[in-house]
Amino acid sequence: MTGPAPSSNLADQVAYRVGLSFPVSRKGAVASAIARLMTRRGIGDSRSFLDRLGLDEDLTDDAIAAITVGETHFFRGPDQFQLIRQTILPELRRRSDGSPVWIWSLGCATGEEPYSLAILCDQEGLLDDVRIRAADISRRALVTAKAAEYGEWSLRKTDHKLKERYFTSCEGRFRLHERLRRQVDFAHVNLGADELPAAERGLADFDLILCRNVLVYLDASAVRRTARQLFACLADGGWLLTAPTDPPLWKYAPFETSVTPAGVVYRRMMGHPDTSKRSASRVPSIRHQTKKPLARIPPARACVTDARKTLGDNAVRAIAQQIRSRFDIGETRDAERLAAQAIESHPLSAELHFLQGLSQMTHGETDAAAAALRRAVYLDSDLAAAQFFLGVCLKHRDPQAALRALENALLFCVARPPRERIALISGVTAGHLAERARREIGEIRRHLGSEDL
Ligand SMILES: C[S@@+](CC[C@H](N)C(=O)[O-])C[C@H]1O[C@@H](n2cnc3c(N)ncnc32)[C@H](O)[C@@H]1O
Repeated sequence: MTGPAPSSNLADQVAYRVGLSFPVSRKGAVASAIARLMTRRGIGDSRSFLDRLGLDEDLTDDAIAAITVGETHFFRGPDQFQLIRQTILPELRRRSDGSPVWIWSLGCATGEEPYSLAILCDQEGLLDDVRIRAADISRRALVTAKAAEYGEWSLRKTDHKLKERYFTSCEGRFRLHERLRRQVDFAHVNLGADELPAAERGLADFDLILCRNVLVYLDASAVRRTARQLFACLADGGWLLTAPTDPPLWKYAPFETSVTPAGVVYRRMMGHPDTSKRSASRVPSIRHQTKKPLARIPPARACVTDARKTLGDNAVRAIAQQIRSRFDIGETRDAERLAAQAIESHPLSAELHFLQGLSQMTHGETDAAAAALRRAVYLDSDLAAAQFFLGVCLKHRDPQAALRALENALLFCVARPPRERIALISGVTAGHLAERARREIGEIRRHLGSEDL
């Protein structure tokens, strides 16, 4: 390879300069991307690279692109869009007293997410009743977002009829109709560095915030700070959706946490003490319109529970023990049934989701098992056992995601004394699990034909 050798230390410094962070697991990838960028730009040493950051806007944008991941598409996470359609929007409309509903797509990348929200609102006859804001750290992504013109790849999961209804196609490109495009406004925001809420910029008091697939790329301290900021940006009773693979936030701010079929959702309780008044800056003239009355759709089967009340519950321990005994004597169907029942009362127990996933794995129900193990992981990202089995579950279907999960398990294990016992799987030590994880990782890499992922 020509050009500078990847330096993980440089990666940290670059991230710091642009106000970003990344988890340890991405350090190698970020270092390589920065090395490639230096080669492309003919910059031979780290010092001049760092000096040019901030002065050269184009280079800064390239550095941001090297650190972040901009992958997105229309209607990504269909279960969450369903939840918004069936539960969140109807509820927000019921209590909105005619004022607009404010939605924020934070980490919007090239705009597919906020425009999907606009399309959904239009389908529900609510487009004039909502205000959609979108924000991202990447100025380059925001330019693309504002243009609202997309290729097939962005629309790969979009229904053919929707494409026809909302886009004008020309030579393989799809331009979103102006009526929807102008419904979304974009702002530059750096979650790591900007003070939020920022009422003067209209970035406060949101009824619904989507911050999906962003937190997964931040380091632990940035996640904590962001959780508090997002909480403060929510209006009374407002909702926050993150992605299933994002780290859990309920530990870091007083969210009311719910587990729904679409994953974990967070809310700011009505009347939370430091709820600020709606800022005048975000209340423009309200365009009243005659609306068709919204069907009263019952909330999705959500178990709204205060996380802190549920966790540490001794009852969970006892049920988990019962499930394990069934599992150990081979009654895995029973174990699965018991786990599913117990989850209804204790939706925030990572252990129960883990046991459910394990039981499903033994029946070859890989998709269901992966979903259960993912829930366990986002309820407690330190559960190396759940990360490990998630990796095993995904290795054929989604090898990259499998690698991420297995690497997380490995990182966790190697940071511990080899004889330390691993939570949730009896008799297994950190050394043992690390070895198993290494073997699985090696196998996947060989299968993918690459050692440099
Ligand atoms: C993987 S995309 C997610 C897009 C969309 N939310 C989705 O789920 O499809 C992540 C986006 O987060 C943005 N991002 C990363 N760190 C950020 C930060 N500190 N502040 C604002 N945006 C950030 C990136 O630029 C990127 O566009």
